[in-house]
Amino acid sequence: MPIVSRPDEFNVEDLYVDLRPVLDAPLYVKCEGLNLAGSIKLKAAAEIVDAVERDGLLSRDSILVESSSGNLGVAVSMIAASRGYPFVCVTDTRCNGAAKRLMETFGARVHTVTQPDPVGGFLSARLAYVQELCAADPRYVWLNQYANPNNWIAHYRSTAPAVAQRFPDLDVLFVGAGTTGTLMGCARYFRETRSEVTIVAVDSVGSVSFGGPPGARMIPGLGSGVRPPMLEESFVDDVVLVAEMDAVRTCHRLAARGFLFGGSTGTVVSGALRWLAEHRPDNATAVALSPDFGERYLDSVYEPGWVRAMRGPDSLEDPPRTQQFAVSSAHD
Ligand SMILES: Cc1ncc(COP(=O)(O)O)c(C=O)c1O
Repeated sequence: MPIVSRPDEFNVEDLYVDLRPVLDAPLYVKCEGLNLAGSIKLKAAAEIVDAVERDGLLSRDSILVESSSGNLGVAVSMIAASRGYPFVCVTDTRCNGAAKRLMETFGARVHTVTQPDPVGGFLSARLAYVQELCAADPRYVWLNQYANPNNWIAHYRSTAPAVAQRFPDLDVLFVGAGTTGTLMGCARYFRETRSEVTIVAVDSVGSVSFGGPPGARMIPGLGSGVRPPMLEESFVDDVVLVAEMDAVRTCHRLAARGFLFGGSTGTVVSGALRWLAEHRPDNATAVALSPDFGERYLDSVYEPGWVRAMRGPDSLEDPPRTQQFAVSSAHD
């Protein structure tokens, strides 16, 4: 058993769920939520904070600041608490209550933006607030996960080699796209080492990352209201867009079989199942990355009133309970 003295030293890198007996689907799900920050964003957060320390960008009175939809904020809050830095997280109204409470418990100050920018949505509004803070006070150090290469380097160094080692015969890798740090780190690694592996990006309908029209999105994590600066589409072989309701339905199907995953895992698995059904690669070895587990989403993805609100007032159908989702979605 590992013994740690810093919370970012522990991470389970080798847990996969085989969806064959679970959903009758030829897909392995790599679980990235087994660390003390509860999500894949611990990797990017640790790599980014290590780099600002290494590069001498922090002085005794520095204040870390970052925009986050939740998980990166929780991870930076945890690392900042462990290393003694003050931290301000700028989030928006879609951030889970659980994530906000976690950040505050670690001693971070959380600023919630309530009005989206008319063009760039909540992300633009959050970034504008971060830039205001930095312009007004030189003590702020913006970690900038959106453009910081250490974000994708974290996955180039850990996530992708771990998948490659566990699945020497990997054919397809499905990766959700938020900042695209996970996607670009994995895509670069496989392009350099095993270019025959197909890299499929999974994004939410309403995200503009791959050129689609902007639209309302409720599930935090995946998708973006502005084009991710670090995205290089030439490294990506295919893109699947998933409607949020399909992501929710997939989460409920998995929960009905005892696996409680987060909303972006529902998106990635839903997109992967559709892609595999459409392309039908023969005996392909396919892996999807699961960014986090579902407990932080009990008040959203797993809450019938939230799901009903997401479907909109025109929907006559009641949001099914988990078990009903499992039955009704058997024909998906
Ligand atoms: C739950 C969840 N899924 C997916 C992502 C996207 O990962 P990336 O920013 O590496 O594209 C995030 C990012 O915040 C996240 O919190």
